[in-house]
Amino acid sequence: MNTDKSGTNIGSYEERVKNFTWDAVSQELGFEDGVPRNIGWCCTDRVCEQGLREKTALIWESAQGEVHRYTFNEMRLYSNAFAKLLQELGVKDGERVAIYLDRVPSLYFSLLGILKLGAIAVPMFSAFGEEALQVRLANCDAVACITSPRLARKLRKARPGLPALKRVIVVDADDESKLKGDEMAYSVEDAPPVEVFPVFPATEETPSLLHYTSGTTGQPKGALHVHGSILSQYITTKWVMDLKPDDVYWCTADPGWVTGISYGVIGPWSLGATQLVLEVGFIPARWYSAIEKHRVSVWYSAPTAIRLLMREGEEIVKQYDLSSLRHLCSVGEPLNPEAVIWSEKVYGLPFHDTWWQTETGAIMITNYPGMEVRPGSMGKPFPGTTAAVLDDRFEPITEPNKPGKLALKPPWASMFREYWGNRTIYESKFKNGWYITGDRARIDEDGYYWFEGRDDDVINTGGHLVAPFEVESALLEHEAVAESAAIGTPDKVNMEVVKAYVALKSGFEPTKDLELSIMNFVRKRLSPLAMPQYIEFMDKLPKTRSGKIMRRVLRAMDRGEPIGDISTLEDE
Ligand code: WT7
Repeated sequence: MNTDKSGTNIGSYEERVKNFTWDAVSQELGFEDGVPRNIGWCCTDRVCEQGLREKTALIWESAQGEVHRYTFNEMRLYSNAFAKLLQELGVKDGERVAIYLDRVPSLYFSLLGILKLGAIAVPMFSAFGEEALQVRLANCDAVACITSPRLARKLRKARPGLPALKRVIVVDADDESKLKGDEMAYSVEDAPPVEVFPVFPATEETPSLLHYTSGTTGQPKGALHVHGSILSQYITTKWVMDLKPDDVYWCTADPGWVTGISYGVIGPWSLGATQLVLEVGFIPARWYSAIEKHRVSVWYSAPTAIRLLMREGEEIVKQYDLSSLRHLCSVGEPLNPEAVIWSEKVYGLPFHDTWWQTETGAIMITNYPGMEVRPGSMGKPFPGTTAAVLDDRFEPITEPNKPGKLALKPPWASMFREYWGNRTIYESKFKNGWYITGDRARIDEDGYYWFEGRDDDVINTGGHLVAPFEVESALLEHEAVAESAAIGTPDKVNMEVVKAYVALKSGFEPTKDLELSIMNFVRKRLSPLAMPQYIEFMDKLPKTRSGKIMRRVLRAMDRGEPIGDISTLEDE
């Protein structure tokens, strides 16, 4: 299938790989001596200096459907104002500042402001409950948090566990009398303009963002990124998203996750692109009408959303003029071939699969214009990236189509530099000179990568990773739960959803009411994503002799597969 409908003319995949240098990317971004490598500056001031002050950076559509537009100059001034505010509040470079907001304009202004100050931004998904929030902000000792009146209520409940959190800044507060204690209201649009802010002179190694992600063991870990990541985000956005000056770009991911930052802030704005943000989540009619109204041309979404749109059918598509669309990409989960074929039929364009992770910071393996797309394949390593599939001894497999561990050769610009405060787990991710991704894949005869599945217990629900341990810990806090285990069970739309196995304390009966009470308990503490959709009660859970719950056995039971070697089970 030849999908090069975009008129891109940068040459073939092979040529791009052969001619690729990071120096050339540095030059494109104007990284000369004395020029700040600061992401906040690159996404606003630098774009203004390139003559794009009055170009629209952000088209924001509120839940009620009101549209506000912000130019690159406004983004520059408003991010300056946030940087100055934080500075006046005593926040220093290197300190962690959390953002706990829905998709409102101040999320973007404050994020860029934090970066301009040289502090480390910690994006928090707004659907997180008090416990999910507390675990993460306590882990990184966040000193300040920017939030909204609605979310401040959840933050208040987490605060007793957050001694380091000195400042809470509440944006969009209509009624300041509802604020509590030391919370301060702030409105960037009412504050005096800050024409000049001396941005922190970041180098490529200065920490920029901390993105929490879920691992196999323990609580979520903060993947620390650096300002130099912009090199990867800039060039992948340029080539993979194929952004051109007149495009209107829309990334549907929430900035509480890495996609919503790397490709919903840094990549597009470093290129001076106009992007759309919808405050609402997935609502098919709102999505299609937004594409029509704002003439969206490049769209970055996720397989779960595409499957949901497939379920809505073709009739609704015909009610909208989607002719502005020019290029479509997807990330987060395996993109099934049917989805690629459906989108080609219905929108006249295939979705291009892209593969990456929180830890990689930017797209690593991908399909892009100029490459032949093989539906179902993740594509090939992005130029400048060395990938491989390794055997159990961590040696590259040379035989085509043989599955193994997907690995990447460090370093690369947007590589995570640390799991916050957890050197041991960070180091355990590197073996034999490779970064081990935790995914399994195979490479075909022509060098295309095919996703085979995860190599660990992490649950991927609708493109969001959930740590079994985090769910299990929350379950154990419920008064009725004695033992708990969480696994991913297959789901038609979300790929996987969380399923919990629970052994009850004596005196509790497995009733429907108790099941709902446990589900709601997890939803409120963690998030709707982490809430078990199914709960199965057991007398006791299968454990190893050392007391570790065997999720493998539960997964096999769930799928009706043979249970395999259970010789280590405690009862054997
Ligand atoms: C994990 C990373 C940065 C992307 C957003 C999620 C899975 C991601 C694909 C894909 C199959 C994919 C992998 C990966 N994943 N993209 N194109 N095909 N699986 O970032 O939360 O760190 O999740 O998502 O398992 O390791 P993340």
